[in-house]
Amino acid sequence: MLSSTNINEAFVRAFGKSPEITAQAPGRVNLIGEHIDYSNGFVLPFAIKYHTTVAIARNGLNIFRFSSAQKPDEVIELNQLVPLEGETWGRYVAGVIWALGIAEGLDIFVDGQVPVGAGLSSSAALECSTAVALNTLFNLKRDVKDLARITQRAENDFVGVPCGIMDQSVSLMGKEGSAVLIDCRDLSTQNIPFNIAEHGLELLIIDTRVHHELVDGGYAERRASCEKAVEILGIPSLRDISVAAFESRKSELDPTTFIRGYHAVTEMKRVLDTVEALTQGDFNTVGKLLNASHASLRDDYTVSCPELDLVASTAVAHGALGARMVGGGFGGSAIALAKVELIPSIQSAILEAMKNAGFPEPRFFTSLPSDGARVLS
Ligand code: GLA
Repeated sequence: MLSSTNINEAFVRAFGKSPEITAQAPGRVNLIGEHIDYSNGFVLPFAIKYHTTVAIARNGLNIFRFSSAQKPDEVIELNQLVPLEGETWGRYVAGVIWALGIAEGLDIFVDGQVPVGAGLSSSAALECSTAVALNTLFNLKRDVKDLARITQRAENDFVGVPCGIMDQSVSLMGKEGSAVLIDCRDLSTQNIPFNIAEHGLELLIIDTRVHHELVDGGYAERRASCEKAVEILGIPSLRDISVAAFESRKSELDPTTFIRGYHAVTEMKRVLDTVEALTQGDFNTVGKLLNASHASLRDDYTVSCPELDLVASTAVAHGALGARMVGGGFGGSAIALAKVELIPSIQSAILEAMKNAGFPEPRFFTSLPSDGARVLS
């Protein structure tokens, strides 16, 4: 990783002058509240210690020049700042410039330290670090809620990924020592202390290193099912109906729409139950809620995959209080909450189970809740 001084040096090497501003933003894991941000639900993610750092300066030209410690350079002409086809990394940065309405050439250097492809929101980290840097550089005075909406718009309308608002919100509003309860309706937040180390616990993050084809279409399709349920039931959002009321209207929905909506309404309840259990320091109940969330994502919402299921079940079989897939699903990472002393044996058991099943060797990470995005200099 480049230190903040080194990113200045890297910027000088890339562009022959010093940056005007540097900023950083973290990736995230979601403790619980999966696939409900786009239904106006409450979610409970936290920012992780891995982050992306950007350094930026105006270049007085009609171009954006993107350089990175990890990826090839890219250049976009100012008059080509339109949603782009293709898999360029620079479109996440360009999308934020576009969504902020900046019409001035820039040089941008990026050091991305959030593992890519692990479902830990490396794209939100890139978008949010860029957004906070530009917000300060151009004195735009946007608050963090605005920046969350702007970066989501960059991803939805410029990059073309129909994500919700959880990842950008927590990357901007993360708080050291806390999981952040985000109300996705108005983006108000409450910091819920998550001092697991004091309780002898650790949160293991397991990247399955798989990424199944279904990812893009599967996400949009499920989002559409939730919207369909809302329309048929004539309610403002799935946030506005209890589990019992939703069940009582089962006959109005086709089976797929019902079961997907059922995941959403039960997951919303599990988030609030988790907050309650955390407030009581009842980690056994937190573990059970994580397991129930995984089962719902696997069986009702059908966004898990054999690798995630194996990781979660192996962790629990070897003593974890609870484990579940995180993020969009169809691959990416799972989390397991366990006593610190059990972590090494859980890791070995997962490695062995994955090997025996002929799956890729997973990567392990761990992180306490960290602060959200900030300007460094
Ligand atoms: C992805 C999206 C988020 C959220 C999760 C599922 O990470 O970017 O907005 O919908 O999936 O909870």
